[in-house]
Amino acid sequence: MDTISLIKRELKQQGAVLVAHYYVEPEIQDLALETGGMVGDSLEMAKFCKIHTAKTLLVAGVRFMGETAKILSPEKIVLMPNLQATCSLDIGCPADEFAKFRAQHPECTVVVYANTSAEIKAQSDWVVTSSIAKKIITHLHATGQKILWAPDRHLGTYLKEKTGADMVLWQGSCVVHDEFKGEELAYTKQKYPNALVLVHPESPAEVVKHADVVGSTSRLLSAVSEFSNDTFIVATDQGILHEMKKQEPTKTFIPAPTAGKGATCKSCAFCPWMQMNSLESCLEALQYQSQHEILLEPQLIERASKPILNMLQFAQRVNL
Ligand code: 13P
Ligand code: SF4
Repeated sequence: MDTISLIKRELKQQGAVLVAHYYVEPEIQDLALETGGMVGDSLEMAKFCKIHTAKTLLVAGVRFMGETAKILSPEKIVLMPNLQATCSLDIGCPADEFAKFRAQHPECTVVVYANTSAEIKAQSDWVVTSSIAKKIITHLHATGQKILWAPDRHLGTYLKEKTGADMVLWQGSCVVHDEFKGEELAYTKQKYPNALVLVHPESPAEVVKHADVVGSTSRLLSAVSEFSNDTFIVATDQGILHEMKKQEPTKTFIPAPTAGKGATCKSCAFCPWMQMNSLESCLEALQYQSQHEILLEPQLIERASKPILNMLQFAQRVNL
């Protein structure tokens, strides 16, 4: 039996469901859809994991996505193809240093990006993902709250500019989006004057300023059908191009440049940790669960769940 058939058999036998992010390899995305699971942005993944009745969730993505699923459904077994698959934003925001940063700003409401560890979430008032961040910050600003934001400095800068909120920012960044180059993107736009520019807000301001659409992975995906343009320049992990091409097979998708003139690698935008998810590691996770299971202390789950539930309740109120 081949690996895909073996994974399908294990999913069925274990009553498990495969949940994947748009950045993981195409075969895993397709398999998730084919077997009754889902592919989505981080907010959609969290919502799906929470409401699905499966007793085992196999989360193909990075560690914070698996942790979020476990926090929202402690009674479920949450497996990940590779528990070492982390995120530079998570690595760059250690819990003890974050506690000191918070202590310096006791007047602030603490809002953290979903791309953080459970320990960071447990120290916060709100968790947000890129798809809901602007709405939640706007709401907090409107109610007069000063905000401590962590860890992504580019998303923080974008939110501060868009909402006018008073925000102090942790200085983290995503190694993938940080690489996009504004000047090179301007050349690419000149070369494809009819192209629409789609940018994930983890990108630097010099890149965001060229964007026609700024949004989460799901928002960038919906834009390719919403707009009639036949060409799109895409500034996010190239994993998303798979779903974009499936959705609009006749359109052209150009990865935004990550390097200057003369460089051999024009777009190397692949998250190294998302790439740790393979079909083989999906199968291994189902067969050897103990080495792939997300385990968190009940007290940590309790504390980290509150800010995530704040986000999910807000999402329900605004129909997101
Ligand atoms: P989304 O919530 O937009 O899918 O983003 C997750 C992520 O890690 C982007 O780098
Ligand atoms: Fe983290 Fe960036 Fe990878 Fe997303 S693409 S998981 S933000 S390192």
